[in-house]
This record gives sequence, structure tokens and C-alpha cells, in this order.
Amino acid sequence: MSSVPKFKLNTGALIPSVGLGGWGGLTKEERAATVPWFVTALKSGYRHIDTAWAYGTEKYVGEAIRQSGVPREEIWITTKLPWHHPGLRTAEQSIDESLKNLGTDYVDLYLLHWPQVIDWPDEDSEFLAEIKTRNSSPTFNETWVGLEEVYAKGKAKNIGVSNFSVQNLEKLLATAKIVPAVNQVELHPYLAQEELKAYCDSKGIVLTAYTPTGYNTVRSDPLIVELTRKYNVTPAQIILAWHNSRGVVVVPKSSDAQRQRDNLNLPNVAPEDLKRISALDRNERLCNKADPDGKVYGWTYEQLGW
Ligand SMILES: NC(=O)c1ccc[n+]([C@@H]2O[C@H](COP(=O)([O-])OP(=O)(O)OC[C@H]3O[C@@H](n4cnc5c(N)ncnc54)[C@H](OP(=O)(O)O)[C@@H]3O)[C@@H](O)[C@H]2O)c1
Repeated sequence: MSSVPKFKLNTGALIPSVGLGGWGGLTKEERAATVPWFVTALKSGYRHIDTAWAYGTEKYVGEAIRQSGVPREEIWITTKLPWHHPGLRTAEQSIDESLKNLGTDYVDLYLLHWPQVIDWPDEDSEFLAEIKTRNSSPTFNETWVGLEEVYAKGKAKNIGVSNFSVQNLEKLLATAKIVPAVNQVELHPYLAQEELKAYCDSKGIVLTAYTPTGYNTVRSDPLIVELTRKYNVTPAQIILAWHNSRGVVVVPKSSDAQRQRDNLNLPNVAPEDLKRISALDRNERLCNKADPDGKVYGWTYEQLGW
């Protein structure tokens, strides 16, 4: 077993390679119930939490940090600019809201959550109940200028994107003054994203994997189960170790204290086994799949570059 490594970003900052996913569920009650498990995670050694305005858990992350007694400056906080804000608020107004929710005056990483812009009619409504894309909205190139400004002001120590493909990163880099430090995307052995990984490596962008364990679908793959016996660990630990070996940051979500500890404590998997895990790739999305209309939050796979 190894201790949690840190990966260097293009700003020089060191990001803990394992963070805790901060998605808490759809209802207000589920979200409020995150505090105790954020606290157990911090107490068992997590120093990186991944949240988002859209998750409605920023204020509970802040509350858990204060309850845990761990100094704020020891914790890496990532949050995200929601995809209905562009055109309604400046990036600075968005981050100010998130900072207020979190009870801090900076975040370690601020991500543009999605490349597209949507309408979200009622901010108190359930998570994205009604979605309409605003095609006349600011482009992500325009929104990125706002992220560059909050970086310059020190409100975000690092800035990045989420759900960006090679196609959309190319468009972004055509105008960006600052290269994103991180791109957070769905990534697991069934969706290894080899092309995106190579592209991000070539531009100095670190990938963070969401849905990193691939749910029970990937965790129950026969190869993964076989390797759990060889290394005497759980399926999630095998998969998370595979990510870290590729230089990919992971943000598994667990509300269970034992599973949180497992996810932090990863084995060294031999190169020949890592190769076998990579060979499981089947370009299969498990989290954000197209709706029956063929779209994900209003954009086609073609627009998303998927
Ligand atoms: N940028 C984006 O658009 C985006 C989209 C989706 C997610 N995310 C981020 O990524 C985080 C994680 O994504 P995710 O929740 O989709 O995927 P995940 O972390 O791979 O899966 C979470 C599920 O796996 C279970 N689990 C976690 N560790 C386990 C273990 N060691 N053994 C068995 N089961 C385990 C959890 O159950 P228990 O809680 O019961 O342990 C939970 O049901 C989110 O919380 C969020 O921060 C970002």
C-alpha cells in the first residue's frame, strides 16, 4: 500500500491524487446528510474534496471542514461554475456565491462544469428538472475569460474545465490566455479516454476522473474481481490504482467510512495487470449518457465531441 501521492499541475500546484466526490443526491435532505460523511473522510485523511454549485453541497463541505478541525489551508477544495450561470452572472459573481457557501475566500480549483449553457428556471428546483439549451448564450471561450479573471484575483488558485473533449479543448485553446490546469471527465476502465489523455498530456492538462470506480458495472468485471484476489484488496482499490498509475486524479464518492479509507489506500498494481485493465476499454459511458433525444444537457455527442 502507498500513501496518497500528489500530482503537479501546470501552475506548479500539487493536487492530492485521491479526493472525495461531493455529489450528495437530488433532495435537500440527502444533501444536508452529507456533513457526517464529509467529516469522517477528513478525519480519515482526505485532503481533497470535489464539489460543485450544482450539487448543492458546497455549504455542507464548508460546515464539515469547520467541524473536522482540519485547517482550511490543508484541504484542496474543487468547485465548479454551473452551466446556467454564463450570461446571467459574471464568473466573479458565481465564484463569490460558491465562496460564501463554502465559507472560504479562495478555492484551490475552479472548473467550468460543462461547455454548453442551459436555462435552469428555478434554482430551488430539483437538480436540472427542466433543461433548455441557450444557444445564443456566451461561448465557453467568452466564459473562460471570466475564469481567467478570478484566477488573476486569487479567488481560484487554479482554473480548469469539465466535460471537455479534444474538439472543445482545441476551440478553447485557440483563445485562452491560460491553459486549463485540469479537465474533469467521466473516466474508468470501460471509458479509458486514451485520445483525450494523450491530448491533455501534450498540453500539460491533468485529467481528473469522475465516476472513477465505474459503479458496480466495472467493479464486478471478471478481470477486476480476479485482481482483487491477487492483491487482496477491493475492486474499487484496483480501479483507482489503475487511474493513479496513469497520472489521473480520482474523486470517488463514498458515504461509508470503511470504503472511504479503502479508496485512499491503494495497492501498487504490476504493469502487466495495468495493461490488462486498460484493455477493458469499450468507450462506454455510465454516468452522463444521452437522453432519448440523443442529447446530454441539450447538446448532441457531436457538439460535445464525444
Ligand atoms: N464533473 C462532472 O460533470 C461530474 C459528474 C459526475 C460526478 N462527478 C464527481 O465525481 C464524483 C464521483 O462520481 P460518481 O459518484 O459518479 O462515481 P463513483 O465515485 O465511481 O461511484 C460512487 C458509488 O460507488 C460506491 N462506492 C464508492 N467506493 C466504493 C468502494 N470502495 N466499494 C464499493 N462501492 C463503492 C458508492 O457507494 P457508497 O457511498 O455507499 O460507498 C457510490 O454508490 C462525484 O461525487 C462528483 O464529485 C463530476
